[in-house]
Amino acid sequence: MSTFATRLIRWQPRHGRHDLPWQATRDPYRIWLSEVMLQQTRVATVIPYYRRFLARFPDLASLARASLDEVLMLWSGLGYYSRARNLHAAAAMLVEAHGGRFPREREAIETLPGIGRSTAAAIAVFAFGAREAILDGNVKRVLARHFAVRGVPAEKRTENRLWKIAEALLPSRNIQSYTQALMDLGADLCARSRPACGKCPLKKSCRANASGNADAYPRSRPRKALPARTTSMLLLLREGEVLLEKRPPAGIWGGLWCFPEIPSGEDARDYCFRRWGARVAGVAQLPPLRHGFTHFTLNIIPVVCRASPASSFVSEPGQVSLPLEDAAEAAVPAPVKRLLAGL
Ligand code: ADE
Repeated sequence: MSTFATRLIRWQPRHGRHDLPWQATRDPYRIWLSEVMLQQTRVATVIPYYRRFLARFPDLASLARASLDEVLMLWSGLGYYSRARNLHAAAAMLVEAHGGRFPREREAIETLPGIGRSTAAAIAVFAFGAREAILDGNVKRVLARHFAVRGVPAEKRTENRLWKIAEALLPSRNIQSYTQALMDLGADLCARSRPACGKCPLKKSCRANASGNADAYPRSRPRKALPARTTSMLLLLREGEVLLEKRPPAGIWGGLWCFPEIPSGEDARDYCFRRWGARVAGVAQLPPLRHGFTHFTLNIIPVVCRASPASSFVSEPGQVSLPLEDAAEAAVPAPVKRLLAGL
């Protein structure tokens, strides 16, 4: 039987993906951007963000010159904003320390903020044809099934074992088709639930398929219930404008524009007057919203306060009052965007 790699390389031209916007280039900047956007995010979601980002920042130099606020604006809604902050920081480092040239070696790429070994390897493969192994969540699943690896991939011991397997499988030629095939197989046929084993080019050698229990791999770490936090968000409106404040750089939504939080136990109307001198004519609570972070769930209680046009309205440093249409275009996280759209 032909090798694992050979079967994937043969499968790729007919069954893999070929028309993704980052496949038509060898520009390491574009490939880097795509790989960072594709961390934790599906292809279909990434494509419009990728196009908009490149239209505004076509190269490394333009990104390095940009303000973080503008970068976050283009990332708004994509989530995991540390990716955008790291991208921006890495662009500045590349321009200052590397003369604006993207490093070619996986080890050097890996030293940039926001780039782990697998992302660095994917960039080195697609931009420079390097013979490097990738191991993202999807690839871990493919390998755990094919080789019936029983451990939990999130645990170091099992992860190291999977890296060894991934390295040993690398073909000596066609590394790009091979890597793309592995990604495509993991994203599509070898899905987490109900994998399409009948269509898989690896089905004859796959040990999970042979035992008929692909679903049992990979084992997941026993999940603890995520803690939940509740917060009241203040949608303070006055004459078609809404008040936003910039979150501190560290912590959730760092650097993004959000609604101010109402401290617990505070009456919204009193708070608006005390903090901004706003006289609130009407208060309404909107249905609560849940937002999932990796480590906790945030329950958001939106409280709309309409300030009378005549009331004074002093915003503090780090706060802006924006027309609703402009606010929806600003660097805001998804739940804020959704609430703005509903106003
Ligand atoms: N997921 C991560 N990198 C990818 C890529 N280059 N193409 C498709 N899906 C991916």
